[in-house]
Amino acid sequence: MDLRLRGKVAVLTGASVGIGLAVAEGFAAEGVNLVLAARQRERLEKVAVDIAARHGVRVVPVACDVGTTEGVDALVGAAIQEFNGADILFNNAGTGSNETLMEAPDEKWQAYWELHVMAAVRLARGIVPAMKQRGGGAILHNASICAAQPLGYEPIYNVTKAALMMFSKNLANEVVKDNIRVNTVRRRPTIRRTS
Ligand SMILES: NC(=O)c1ccc[n+]([C@@H]2O[C@H](COP(=O)([O-])OP(=O)(O)OC[C@H]3O[C@@H](n4cnc5c(N)ncnc54)[C@H](OP(=O)(O)O)[C@@H]3O)[C@@H](O)[C@H]2O)c1
Repeated sequence: MDLRLRGKVAVLTGASVGIGLAVAEGFAAEGVNLVLAARQRERLEKVAVDIAARHGVRVVPVACDVGTTEGVDALVGAAIQEFNGADILFNNAGTGSNETLMEAPDEKWQAYWELHVMAAVRLARGIVPAMKQRGGGAILHNASICAAQPLGYEPIYNVTKAALMMFSKNLANEVVKDNIRVNTVRRRPTIRRTS
């Protein structure tokens, strides 16, 4: 399939396994150069070398925690240094929650908020100016069907993914004038995460 993406640049978070890795593979097969983020350096670097070798695209791995300001700064910095920005941003990194709403301390809430919401806010702030200079782009947020309707588990996950979905809708309104499209993916969980 030719989606006319050859030569474009995509920044993907949570790209070393699972959905993020599958999306990275899909982009690379279309000739898209990649900036990939995940925390575990060795696994990410292996993925980057493998994808680059099989698809002939440039792949820059950035081992970082996107739930922190420093992590996002490192990721944005690499995209700007290596590619002068990006045309596509896929905010995918996320994690399930086991805690109940009544028992979870503030620190837990804050951690999910930083990863599911603030990572997307900070990445948009970092990447949108460069996207504008390139004439536009596309931003995708991986939320969950649970952002709209809880399935009876992972309550803090659901609350923070709902906030991500609403951030995504509002961002779409704000950057449409810059020819930037913003979408949210709301997939039904196929597995129950334990971590
Ligand atoms: N699987 C489903 O059925 C499903 C359904 C609906 C929505 N989703 C959403 O889709 C996304 C991906 O799900 P998945 O099942 O593919 O996840 P996964 O298999 O658990 O992979 C998560 C990826 O994110 C990275 N990651 C986690 N925390 C990170 C952090 N703080 N900073 C940077 N990278 C981080 C992980 O690598 P490291 O551990 O090395 O950091 C890994 O590459 C998540 O946002 C999830 O909520 C999944």
